[in-house]
Amino acid sequence: MSTTVQVSAERSYAVVIGRDLLAEIVPLTEGATRAGVIFQPSVQDVARRVGAILERAGIDVVPVEVPDAEGSKTAEVAGRCWSALGAAGFTRNDVVVGIGGGAVTDLAGFIAATWLRGVRCILVPTSVLAMVDAAIGGKTGINTREGKNLVGVFSSPVGVLCDVTTLSDLPRAEIVSGLAEVVKVGLTSDATIVADLLVRTSDALDVEGDLLPDLIRRAVQVKADVVGADFREVGGANGAIGREALNYGHTLGHAIEHCEDYTWRHGNAVAVGLMFAGQLAFLGGRLDAEGVETHRAVLDAVGLPRTYRRDAWPALLEAMSLDKKSRGTTLRFVVLDGLQNPTIWRAPEQDLLVAAYDAISA
Ligand SMILES: NC(=O)c1ccc[n+]([C@@H]2O[C@H](COP(=O)([O-])OP(=O)(O)OC[C@H]3O[C@@H](n4cnc5c(N)ncnc54)[C@H](O)[C@@H]3O)[C@@H](O)[C@H]2O)c1
Repeated sequence: MSTTVQVSAERSYAVVIGRDLLAEIVPLTEGATRAGVIFQPSVQDVARRVGAILERAGIDVVPVEVPDAEGSKTAEVAGRCWSALGAAGFTRNDVVVGIGGGAVTDLAGFIAATWLRGVRCILVPTSVLAMVDAAIGGKTGINTREGKNLVGVFSSPVGVLCDVTTLSDLPRAEIVSGLAEVVKVGLTSDATIVADLLVRTSDALDVEGDLLPDLIRRAVQVKADVVGADFREVGGANGAIGREALNYGHTLGHAIEHCEDYTWRHGNAVAVGLMFAGQLAFLGGRLDAEGVETHRAVLDAVGLPRTYRRDAWPALLEAMSLDKKSRGTTLRFVVLDGLQNPTIWRAPEQDLLVAAYDAISA
């Protein structure tokens, strides 16, 4: 059984969620002679299976193994990928396939968007985070020495296959971290997600069960709706918050990742950022005590962190001011005017920021 969420961005594409879906890649390659399969070492089995399916369909497979995690999102690795496509004689009709966590889906999307000014890209995300977030929405890119995701292109894939059987070897800590983005869209947009995470927590963490794929579907639906309304993150119609809502928890989250030299999992840093944003909205009179308690309860249920070092505030404030999402010198936070009602708060008072941090620091 699989379900499909349609994303309407600069092109429309299907995100298919279910089990044993890998063969569904074949129709997406129609007209291609070659497929460049970019994958990380942890999922070489999945890459081998996808390669065999493509070869049976008559496609020449060019496997490109890249380093794990952020080690793949570099200009040097991108250069290696372009060279592999060039050596194989890749043309406009050929396809790039990205198999792995969000690091690989970001890299593969970037390679596809830039080779010959854009060839088709098919994504097979293999982490919860990549299924619900990185592979959806068309943001592609690599890091530079100056920072994360500084070089990239908005470019949608032609299809995304979220095969939950690929999650069977994903470490539990990665599943928990990926669920932070599910918690996020629950708090900003879908109360049923929060309710299920609170009541059926162990089912939510069970890769064999039915709840996790359903949560992935609902989280993808939220992202698809937001991206469909504001693909390039310029803001929604009539002053609506648009795609920036997806940055809930990310302003402090990115600062924590920066201060930890990117050794923290993205979802864990976002989780602390969610708690901070909840406290900030509470102190600003926007979110009631029950709303903040919901943040605490759902993060605790999933097993995500919600506190950070007390002495880190000056470094975090500096990192937040430098964040590319802060727009000039003004700090801006996504906050909730009540649960499931995200809005932007520009330049909150310093004493409120300090008090909110005090409430989450340990
Ligand atoms: N483009 C976007 O909109 C967007 C959104 C969110 C995050 N991102 C990016 O996504 C990345 C984070 O995603 P991630 O956490 O998936 O990162 P990741 O690719 O580093 O994967 C995390 C770890 O899980 C391992 N892994 C992945 N799938 C596995 C599997 N099935 N079995 C065993 N191990 C597996 C990887 O090898 C890696 O060690 C960051 O680079 C971030 O910038 C992009």
